[in-house]
Amino acid sequence: VTPLDPVPVIGGTGALGFGLALRLASAGVPVVVGSRDAARAAAAASEIHDRTGCPVEGMVNADALRRGPIVVLSIPFASQIATLKGLRDAWAPGQILFDATVPLATAIGGRATQILRVPQGSAAQQAAAELPPGIELVSGLHTISARVLADLAARLDEDVLIAGDSADAKRRVASLLATVGGLRAVDAGRLEAAALIESLTPLLIGINARYKTHAGIRITGVAC
Ligand SMILES: NC(=O)c1ccc[n+]([C@@H]2O[C@H](COP(=O)([O-])OP(=O)(O)OC[C@H]3O[C@@H](n4cnc5c(N)ncnc54)[C@H](OP(=O)(O)O)[C@@H]3O)[C@@H](O)[C@H]2O)c1
Repeated sequence: VTPLDPVPVIGGTGALGFGLALRLASAGVPVVVGSRDAARAAAAASEIHDRTGCPVEGMVNADALRRGPIVVLSIPFASQIATLKGLRDAWAPGQILFDATVPLATAIGGRATQILRVPQGSAAQQAAAELPPGIELVSGLHTISARVLADLAARLDEDVLIAGDSADAKRRVASLLATVGGLRAVDAGRLEAAALIESLTPLLIGINARYKTHAGIRITGVAC
């Protein structure tokens, strides 16, 4: 991965995906916004271009996915399996899925401060089961507020816990995140740790509601 590899964002029209795409673009990383709808993708890409001056493309998810080695998945938990099944034939060996999915209880009408038990262990492990061979999965981004990402005037100063079974894939994702000033990746371990990381989101949502803020997390005592 070089800093200039395009980064496809599946669900790049949504809150988190758009915010991340905006931050990457403003750091000079080429971004490809993916959507189920080409016009929605183009509109989001055009807004990111207008706000950053960087060239940004928008296209349907399967076409976006083919454009870069690290593919961000930023869609609701309820649509994760169906979306990945629909994209199964688009992958090329060696690509990495960077999955931000959180199994919030809102997927079944519950509260955003509660998490669902996923049979595979976590949303990330559920996603990994839907990938063809040769695609590594890294889980992360769960504690980053979409609102803060989308506000380019807001200073980022927080960690992104990442989990995955490939040390190389985690290194590549960490380098990508380092291009966004104020974000530091911390390796939280193998993919099974994703369940622990995903559970931080409903925790933060509750904290945010009580303190009327958009809190993130910082791991102390770790130099990386
Ligand atoms: N928002 C946050 O601050 C935040 C923080 C950490 C983690 N997360 C996690 O990140 C993921 C994305 O969150 P979000 O808030 O960005 O979600 P969102 O805005 O509700 O949705 C993101 C995108 O997913 C696509 N989508 C929606 N319904 C779909 C469906 N039924 N099938 C396929 N695609 C669908 C839409 O894109 P198109 O309609 O253009 O296809 C939408 O723009 C979630 O799993 C969330 O838990 C969010």
